[in-house]
Amino acid sequence: MSGYPDISSIREDFPILKRKIEGHPLVYLDNAATTQKPRQVIDTIRRFYEFHNANIHRGKHTLSEEASELYEKIKEKTANFINAGSWREIVFTRNATEAINLVAYSYGAEFLKEGDEILLTLMEHHANIVPWQMLQEKRGVRLRYINIDNDGLLRMEEFEEKLSERTKLVSVVHVSNVLGAVNPVRDIAEMAHRVGALVLIDAAQSAPHLPLNVREIDADFMVFSSHKMLGPTGIGVLYGKEEILDKMPPFLRGGDMISRVEPFRSYFKEIPWKFEAGTPDICGAIGFGAAIDYLEKIGMEKVEAWDRHLVGIAYELLSEIPGLRIIGPEDRVGALSFLLGELDTERIASFLNSRGISIREGCHCAQPLHRSLGLWGTARASFYIYNTEEEVIRLRDALLELAKIEGIPE
Ligand SMILES: Cc1ncc(COP(=O)(O)O)c(C=O)c1O
Repeated sequence: MSGYPDISSIREDFPILKRKIEGHPLVYLDNAATTQKPRQVIDTIRRFYEFHNANIHRGKHTLSEEASELYEKIKEKTANFINAGSWREIVFTRNATEAINLVAYSYGAEFLKEGDEILLTLMEHHANIVPWQMLQEKRGVRLRYINIDNDGLLRMEEFEEKLSERTKLVSVVHVSNVLGAVNPVRDIAEMAHRVGALVLIDAAQSAPHLPLNVREIDADFMVFSSHKMLGPTGIGVLYGKEEILDKMPPFLRGGDMISRVEPFRSYFKEIPWKFEAGTPDICGAIGFGAAIDYLEKIGMEKVEAWDRHLVGIAYELLSEIPGLRIIGPEDRVGALSFLLGELDTERIASFLNSRGISIREGCHCAQPLHRSLGLWGTARASFYIYNTEEEVIRLRDALLELAKIEGIPE
């Protein structure tokens, strides 16, 4: 087990894991929606409010200088986490969704015009579909989609067919929040760049599980959310290549992002500050920094090894349950979506909750994906570094019990 982290000592860091739900020890398997927070993150947030709280960039007093320094340091930490070239390429947003909106409203609305194409895939989260529809409505940009095959993998040959000099942006999820499939984003970026398109990688489900190297992928933009990787809610990341961010206009405007304001004209700060209008989530960023420290102390290679191991066991054990159908490929990370006989997914989730197991059901903000598979929804168990093999067995046993109660034929 040497390639794996020490899970029992990790579990000690998560106070919530001691909770009981419906009389059973909590088995938290809704990590793709949001993860639990370790004591180290919770303590960092408490310490900030107890000792350093002040607004940033605006004061010459000690607390403001401390808060500014703590906040700005997290940009450097985030840049290192994804191997970006500089902290200037890191913009803090509220979440991954806002980061995609920033690119759509700033880059898209400024540089895209009628007839230009944005290439997406059918496995995108709504966060990577709906903002682009704004450009379809307001700018006449055409959205095109890469389909998925029966195994839940992207039809890679369609990239060759659908990429052309009209393609201006390819925006692709790295790890699907439904299928767990890991998309070959390096290859996709290379193909997109060949026709001169920019590439946005939605790393909301990969940043928590995989070591990321944005320069190796050669992404022009990358987005992710702190709350899906042990950090607090309310803070997300937009990575953008410096030369691209430099030429983009601000998204939101107001205080903090300006260098000078006249009654009828304003001058903006440099990147990344020109994209951070108003008081940011200072404490959120600092809590996110503690989450990055926590993950890096374990080592992202080990995080990935454990997450793949657990979802692999889950795939194997759940495959043996009569009437259970797993959606998507065997090779995956993070999420495992499934159906049990003809059962309503709400019935599955509420039965599991009665056994202390938290999963999610529905379309997981991926309606086009579900419709393309002929489904209305799925049940989804998603795993992270504090989950154990015993918990996967508890999930399997509870599903077997449900299958028996419901008379699902073997
Ligand atoms: C693949 C993917 N992209 C984007 C998002 C949006 O993340 P947020 O709600 O934090 O903006 C999610 C959230 O579930 C996701 O799974």
